[in-house]
Amino acid sequence: MSKKVLVLPGDGIGPEITAEAVSVLERVRDKFSIDLELDHALVGGGAIDKFGVPLPDETLSKAKEVDAILLGAVGGPKWDSLDMAIRPEKGLLGLRSGLQLFGNLRPAILYPQLAEASTLKPEVVSGLDILIVRELTGGIYFGQPRGIRTLENGERQGYNTYVYSESEIRRIGRVAFEAARKRGGKLCSVDKANVLEVTVLWREIMDEMSKEYPDVELSHMYVDNAAMQLVRAPKQFDVIVTGNMFGDILSDAAAMLTGSIGMLPSASLDESGKGMYEPCHGSAPDIAGQGIANPLATILSVAMMLRYSLNEIEAADAIEVAVSQVLDSGLRTGDIYSEGCRKVSTNEMGKAVLEALA
Ligand code: IPM
Ligand code: MG
Repeated sequence: MSKKVLVLPGDGIGPEITAEAVSVLERVRDKFSIDLELDHALVGGGAIDKFGVPLPDETLSKAKEVDAILLGAVGGPKWDSLDMAIRPEKGLLGLRSGLQLFGNLRPAILYPQLAEASTLKPEVVSGLDILIVRELTGGIYFGQPRGIRTLENGERQGYNTYVYSESEIRRIGRVAFEAARKRGGKLCSVDKANVLEVTVLWREIMDEMSKEYPDVELSHMYVDNAAMQLVRAPKQFDVIVTGNMFGDILSDAAAMLTGSIGMLPSASLDESGKGMYEPCHGSAPDIAGQGIANPLATILSVAMMLRYSLNEIEAADAIEVAVSQVLDSGLRTGDIYSEGCRKVSTNEMGKAVLEALA
């Protein structure tokens, strides 16, 4: 039976980087004879322009039917003044929650070729290989009640709710412990248990679960310290597990350790391994349409898709090797450029990966 992938290019640089990633996916499909069907749909600002909503029913129902989704990025200044409920980002959040993609894997790996591109000293980041496991469908992003209300004294008040139920903590804990078991055997759970009750419970459940994983060394860290440790001595980490908002923030910090957020892929998985794959970066409206964006995070997201949802490990490996070869050859988009390298466009970078795959 053929496997189905839905492509959602989105806004800003989304269509440019996704086009390169789709070419790579098609190349490995042919090379490894993978029975694969591709479909396209709208999400985010493009969907707002056409249908008035960021996540049209048709897109959500297509997304529910496929084995995996490849997403570019959503959002841009054009839609920033819209009501929160129909902003492009809601399309992304709607997909995550509508498909119950609670397990977000964000690997931050430093390619040795890019040690110079990081703003941190090469000795601090060389050999870096960490995995952030971010809870993606709960926490303060989705907690109710939320809104902006007017108090009796006439003053307005914004409010959100930070909640995690035991089962939500347990299922993301499971993903993280399993990942740590397969990697370096170290798991650091990040919380703010000195202030927030919801993370007191989080910590308690992680401790409880650690009894089932005697082979994994569990530690706890407050989020402010974790932010500091990530830039001070990032190699102390193997796997980090944390909630939705802390994971959002820490994964951007971790991205910069690797030289550029333009290098970071991600997978968002449900209970059964179905997933949505997207670069960790946003739609970068400031450089959209110029053909200078780095397509590698999206191309590496395709590799993650092949590995986690399509079970095509050989093809996944081949893409990762090809990316490394292209970096070896000195090609760089602007975000990872350093002296002595050759600056290339989005399309040239994509083509180079295709050639390395040939
Ligand atoms: C991310 C992004 C999203 C998030 C935005 C675009 C809603 O920053 O995937 O990290 O906050 O989750
Ligand atoms: Mg983010």
